Amino acid sequence: MLPDATPRGPERPEPDMVRVRVPASSANLGPGFDAIGLALGLFNTIVAERAPVWEVDGERDEARLAAHPAYRGARRALEWLEARGLCPRGEGPALAIRQRNEIPAARGGLGNSATAVVGGLVAAGCLAGHPLSDAELLDLATEVEGHPDNAAAAVLGGFVVAVRTERGVVARRLPLSNPPRVVLGIPATQVDTSWARARLPSCVPFADAAFTVGRAALLVAALAAGDHACLAAAMEDRLHTPYRSSLVPGLDAALAAAREAGALGAAISGSGPTVIAFVPPGSPDLERSIGGAMAGAFGRHGLPCEVRVVDVEPTGATII
Ligand code: HSE
Repeated sequence: MLPDATPRGPERPEPDMVRVRVPASSANLGPGFDAIGLALGLFNTIVAERAPVWEVDGERDEARLAAHPAYRGARRALEWLEARGLCPRGEGPALAIRQRNEIPAARGGLGNSATAVVGGLVAAGCLAGHPLSDAELLDLATEVEGHPDNAAAAVLGGFVVAVRTERGVVARRLPLSNPPRVVLGIPATQVDTSWARARLPSCVPFADAAFTVGRAALLVAALAAGDHACLAAAMEDRLHTPYRSSLVPGLDAALAAAREAGALGAAISGSGPTVIAFVPPGSPDLERSIGGAMAGAFGRHGLPCEVRVVDVEPTGATII
């Protein structure tokens, strides 16, 4: 299913403790709804060790644990291994999991949940003595997350295209020439992805689908070729952006402000509220103006906005 395996760090058959570094990601990039993802140089670290009872960041209550993505990832890995006889039923380790997050907490659109799911899957597989392959991680993370774009970027790193098929997730990481830098406008609010998905229509006009599919193809071609000139057109979208840009005060204005300030292209990152804007490498003044323009737009709508400038991250989840 995958062209090559991502080296995931030292092979230790059954360690007592595993630390996994997982990159943030931006999904969709405009027209690539549920299919395109980009790993970013901003990381969450998931640390897991064998323990007498399950615990995440000190939380042991079963009902609350069940809502935690790292717990859901780790439990799913152990169930999956048990079902294949790779880990004795009911005897998989209980894990104490801790997260150290660089992704701003209680915001959204940067694949926070996917980092935790993937970190939990990787750590539990290692601690059970059966590290999961990239293809297994992709299938399981997509099942837990519900969509493959953030999961594929978190597992594989770089620029990915991933789709669900009847035979599992098919994903490819594409080499990027001349990757742009990334300016993120991260407003101080949260958008729940399932809520933002529920705001989407069940059907879209044929013309909007045709408009978007052409741009998605152009986006892949433009990023793979390092052709920055067509990114503005390539990041236009009529599948989800029109239905989501009004969900957060200032989001529409921040997208427009980033473009007016000179971004190569801009889009809602994932389901928002974060905005992702591309800039040519080596243009710190432009990075500042675009960041300032996005922060100003959100600020005029009453939302403080954190600006981060990061590179595309070529490496997926790694044991450190
Ligand atoms: N493709 C997903 C969505 C990404 O847009 O709902 C969520 O991060």
